[in-house]
Amino acid sequence: MAEKLTLKNTFKLYEEALGLIPGAILGIRRPYNFVEGEYPIFFETAKGGKVIDVDGNEYIDMLCAYGPIIIGHREEEIDNEVVKQITEKGFCMSLTQPVQNELAKKLRGLIPGAEKMVFVKMGSDATTSAIRVARSYTKRVKILRCGYHGWHDWCVEQKGGIPEKLYEDVIEFEYNNLDQVRHLMNQYGNDVAAIILTPIGHPGGHQVEMPKPGFLEGIREIADEHGSLLIYDEIRTGFRVDLGGAQKKFGVIPDLGAFGKAMANGYPIGVLTGKKEYMDELVENVFLSSTFFPNSLAQIAALKTIEIMERENVLEDISKKGSIFANKVRDIIEDSGIPCDYSGEPWMPYITFERDPKNLYKKLREEFYRQLIRRKVFLQPFHHGYICYRHTLEDLEYASDMINESLTATKKLL
Ligand SMILES: Cc1ncc(COP(=O)(O)O)c(C=O)c1O
Repeated sequence: MAEKLTLKNTFKLYEEALGLIPGAILGIRRPYNFVEGEYPIFFETAKGGKVIDVDGNEYIDMLCAYGPIIIGHREEEIDNEVVKQITEKGFCMSLTQPVQNELAKKLRGLIPGAEKMVFVKMGSDATTSAIRVARSYTKRVKILRCGYHGWHDWCVEQKGGIPEKLYEDVIEFEYNNLDQVRHLMNQYGNDVAAIILTPIGHPGGHQVEMPKPGFLEGIREIADEHGSLLIYDEIRTGFRVDLGGAQKKFGVIPDLGAFGKAMANGYPIGVLTGKKEYMDELVENVFLSSTFFPNSLAQIAALKTIEIMERENVLEDISKKGSIFANKVRDIIEDSGIPCDYSGEPWMPYITFERDPKNLYKKLREEFYRQLIRRKVFLQPFHHGYICYRHTLEDLEYASDMINESLTATKKLL
């Protein structure tokens, strides 16, 4: 039987934070999104594919900071390049440094739809600027959306503090439901500035879905028929399923693409890419600027991250390891007889529990993730995980063994 972890320091810091920060922690990192009382709330250090919490517990980190860590934590080659920039040149100036152009040229060679681009800091900056560009170009207001696109007014789920008029023209659709998109476009098409979707479906708490054959092609066609722009939110898929994003992987090219997360192995950066015709709205019509957008540290980190990924075939390696892991976990799940599923292979591993009318799945889910964290595998009950380059086959073997033990321990609830 796995014992509850010692989390004395975590709870002390949490108590302190409650008096300092509303809710102590922001967003998805709040304790109720894990298994309360069982998961750490603060991490102290991270290296490679592992993290250590403030009580000294070491975990296989399969959440990878919710996506940015593609190579590994504290990757020396990247960090050294960043330190070199700090000590030899500086990174926060009144004008832009030339590394902007270098990174733009690199990305243009990698991402099929990236004729032009602008660098921002967050994924939310990139998706929101995509919407603004689309609305400006088409002179239309409505947006069809599918997926989480960040915290800004037009798309955030929790509507507190947002006037209805800022999101009333934004209509949600279901991933892989082409009929629904067709129906909505027949109804609103002439007013729709853009259809934005995550090219892989990853709704919170639900299985990760790959595009059904014809889904992305169908959306592309429908957008064209109605003169609406097609935007991919590649914040999770970019630099993870392919260096050219899901658009390269699946061969259906959007008009605009928003990237962030894995692009710079943890340094904050986002980029809006797209066809010249649309991106040039930013020349005169659409304003986009921030004190920190031209800050060069993350741009330096992105160039180095991409260099390593190309040199070492990082994504091929992740894909191979991810597939081995996925096959093992699928077998484990099948043998367990527990009504749960594995999805997201090879990039976004996720174990979800099948919904039932009595809500037993909630208990199974809680127990499974309780057992798993006690065995020092850091995965999230409501969000898929990730595999990074520095995860070794042994790390993943350990994780799958612990998944096996945790499912066995969960069986007692059946
Ligand atoms: C698909 C997707 N789009 C947009 C965002 C927003 O990015 P950020 O949190 O960097 O603003 C996220 C963040 O999780 C995301 O997963």
